[in-house]
Amino acid sequence: MQLVLIGYMGSGKSAIGKLLSDVTGISFQDLDSYIESSEGTAISDIFKTKGEIYFRKTEAGALTEILSNSENIILATGGGTPCYGSVMKDLLDNENVITIYLNCIVETLTQRLWKERDQRPLISHIENMDVLNEFIRKHLFERAFYYNQAHLKISCDVLSEKEIVEKIILQLF
Ligand code: S3P
Repeated sequence: MQLVLIGYMGSGKSAIGKLLSDVTGISFQDLDSYIESSEGTAISDIFKTKGEIYFRKTEAGALTEILSNSENIILATGGGTPCYGSVMKDLLDNENVITIYLNCIVETLTQRLWKERDQRPLISHIENMDVLNEFIRKHLFERAFYYNQAHLKISCDVLSEKEIVEKIILQLF
């Protein structure tokens, strides 16, 4: 079983993926960390030195590599992973894959990302919380088309990490 967590930056994909892995015993992989170790540098440096198009190609390649090398895995993707090229379609066409969208409202994401924006190349330049809120609103609107195609959709705003994992497990098994 390959469980692929998708959703906007700050939606909790890595934290939920790790907890889901602890509970199910299925091994966990974080796509951004995989790219950072295979490229030998931080995601923000890849954006800076090689640009976003290079990052998107590397990201899609890394996703294919991970999924073809592991029969059972929980994979936390990056926020943009399913939104470029044929990635979402390929995930949906792959019968071993179950995609899970961790859905958060704009306000939740703004609160979380405001504190963490420095490490995130797409939002690190934003200096004001209202501007960040507006950026997320538009960006999430564009990306929702892809996210909403997921097999499972979990609304995460008012649930603890433990409750989100329980909800996923209830729907899967
Ligand atoms: C991105 C999200 C990031 C990372 C990169 C681009 C995006 O991952 O892949 O900075 O396009 O939304 P997280 O969602 O884990 O922050």
